[in-house]
Amino acid sequence: MPVATRTRLIKAVPGAADQAAQCLARGGLVAFPTETVYGLGADATDGQAVARLYEAKGRPSFNPLIAHVPDLESARKLAIFNADAEALAASFWPGPLTLVLPRSADCPVSELATAGLETIAIRVPNHALAREILRAFGKPVVAPSANLSGHVSPTNAAHVLDDLGEKIDLIVDGGPAPVGIESTIVACLDAPTILRPGGLSRADITARLGRDLAQPVEATDETPLAPGMLESHYAPRTRLRLNVTQVQPGEVLLAFGTPLPGAKATLNLSEQGDIAEAAANLFGHLRRLDAMLAPSICVMRIPSAGLGEAINDRLRRAAAPKTLPSSS
Ligand code: TXA
Ligand code: MG
Repeated sequence: MPVATRTRLIKAVPGAADQAAQCLARGGLVAFPTETVYGLGADATDGQAVARLYEAKGRPSFNPLIAHVPDLESARKLAIFNADAEALAASFWPGPLTLVLPRSADCPVSELATAGLETIAIRVPNHALAREILRAFGKPVVAPSANLSGHVSPTNAAHVLDDLGEKIDLIVDGGPAPVGIESTIVACLDAPTILRPGGLSRADITARLGRDLAQPVEATDETPLAPGMLESHYAPRTRLRLNVTQVQPGEVLLAFGTPLPGAKATLNLSEQGDIAEAAANLFGHLRRLDAMLAPSICVMRIPSAGLGEAINDRLRRAAAPKTLPSSS
């Protein structure tokens, strides 16, 4: 399929999932909503489609992709599940959990998509339209967040259009992504380890497994845990100041709870201090504040319990100096 020159945007009307599946079958790139963020899908078994996907995002090909499937039965064809993986999948799929597992011997996913690793990341999204597309297509779909590499993840169709319009074939608009932050990635290789905090909290995972998770070895930019987790990531262009207690002149404010006074503009993650609402608003608010071209965006302190761990992780990366090529 030639490189797209105009991206089609369709609403989630009946028949939209079939159109998306047909486009995927032709080797096309299709953005679709999941409960976490919008994904940019390609046929996981088609090396050429996967290569186009890396190119459209500007993503380094050493950074592997997550294979999305509609159910556990389909996931079993791709990877080997140990007891922890079985327990987590049974409790949290469909949902905002990605498991990193050993690739099965006959896994049909392109090696480009898994960056030549012996492991594969798999997810069953909890979104009706996403699952309808996956069922209609009938093969695994690799889907990174549908943003340009290094940008903030998209939580609605307009964000996707801003980043990738003209570069992809189809966007299925299913409204805002309800969770708003990417999936939690757990490696179940020997002792289960969280590689990326996300939309499923650490507390929920440890409660299910009945024990604390192994602490990951310290990741560095040279050896990131999930290869996409480089330090400068999810980055707006505007500088971020975190955990502020006082707004500086000209700054715009990302608030949580009662806003600090004195900002040129304020967007509130959650006036009520609701951490799930804050996660859902995070990336959209960051995009809007970034577009205001203020000297800096100051961010109030966000508690770290529950989804707060993932929110603080993304904010820390967004605030990191942008010295390295990042790769979302
Ligand atoms: O919520 C999500 O997970 C979204 C939606 C669209 O499903 N997807 C997403 O994909 O966030 P992406 O590509 O933006 O982030 C996937 C992360 C990257 O950091 C990548 O390095 C890591 O998963 N990853 C993929 N395969 C891996 C593997 N075999 N081992 C370790 N990390 C892996
Ligand atoms: Mg990403």
